[in-house]
Amino acid sequence: MESRALGRAGVDLPVVGLGTWNTFDLDDSRQDVADRVVEAAFEEGTRLVDSSPMYGRAERVLGRALAGRRGEAFVATKIWTPSVATGRVQFAAQLDFYDGLIDLEQVHNLVSWPEHLDWLEAERDAGRIRFLGATHYASSAFDELARVMRTGRIDAIQIPLNPHEREVEREILPLAEELGLGVIVMRPLGEGSLLPGPDPGRLEPLGVETWAQALIKYALSDPRVTAVIPATTSPEHARENAAAGAPPWFGPDERRLVEELAG
Ligand SMILES: NC(=O)c1ccc[n+]([C@@H]2O[C@H](COP(=O)([O-])OP(=O)(O)OC[C@H]3O[C@@H](n4cnc5c(N)ncnc54)[C@H](OP(=O)(O)O)[C@@H]3O)[C@@H](O)[C@H]2O)c1
Repeated sequence: MESRALGRAGVDLPVVGLGTWNTFDLDDSRQDVADRVVEAAFEEGTRLVDSSPMYGRAERVLGRALAGRRGEAFVATKIWTPSVATGRVQFAAQLDFYDGLIDLEQVHNLVSWPEHLDWLEAERDAGRIRFLGATHYASSAFDELARVMRTGRIDAIQIPLNPHEREVEREILPLAEELGLGVIVMRPLGEGSLLPGPDPGRLEPLGVETWAQALIKYALSDPRVTAVIPATTSPEHARENAAAGAPPWFGPDERRLVEELAG
């Protein structure tokens, strides 16, 4: 799998990561679902994993699934609360789940970002966080996201990019490139709404076997993107997704075809 630098942060990340929204909110009796997905993804070269306190039990389940692999993993998670006190409680739990270190701590949906960045910077300086980021899923919040990016206080952003959600191409991706920020793509498969997609025969000009791979390559074919984080409950899907993380990347004709096929 190809690796790309997380912007000016410089750390190299394999381009296909793993999201955990919905898929890893599992009770104890179903921990094996996450264990098998993480095992398959890591076997294929995935290292970036993404979670949030918003995702129910996902952070804890992910932490357990990473047992014995924490050193290889790049853990991205989030703080999601208007309250600094509650944010600190979320962070303490994360340190417990992820062996005392968060690789990328993101302010989820920009909630109370000025307040959170103050104490998160102190945690970074103390060595418990490596990099800081901010996320938003809605184009209505992109002006505010751009303001956060321009503060120089974050290293990476997480945003949606798929044939039905391309608003980041207007301002956010050019700004990320100008500022040297890493870009992590959420919802590469449109939360599953873009699947199952067209008849496999129509994928031939794209050189991929499945529509999910076409969508993953679509996002990764924008060179400003560092990594995508599709979520899955299936080890087979995790392998299929990881296999899309290698060149050749799509040019303008292939990208246009994916947009047409996505309808
Ligand atoms: N959605 C948001 O608003 C949001 C916001 C912030 C961050 N994020 C982060 O971004 C991650 C990814 O976004 P997402 O989970 O919303 O959506 P997504 O990754 O675009 O889609 C996930 C869905 O696609 C299916 N899928 C995955 N691989 C597949 C394959 N190869 N073939 C067929 N189906 C496949 C999964 O079902 P199966 O289990 O059947 O594979 C799941 O239902 C999240 O998990 C989270 O970490 C999301």
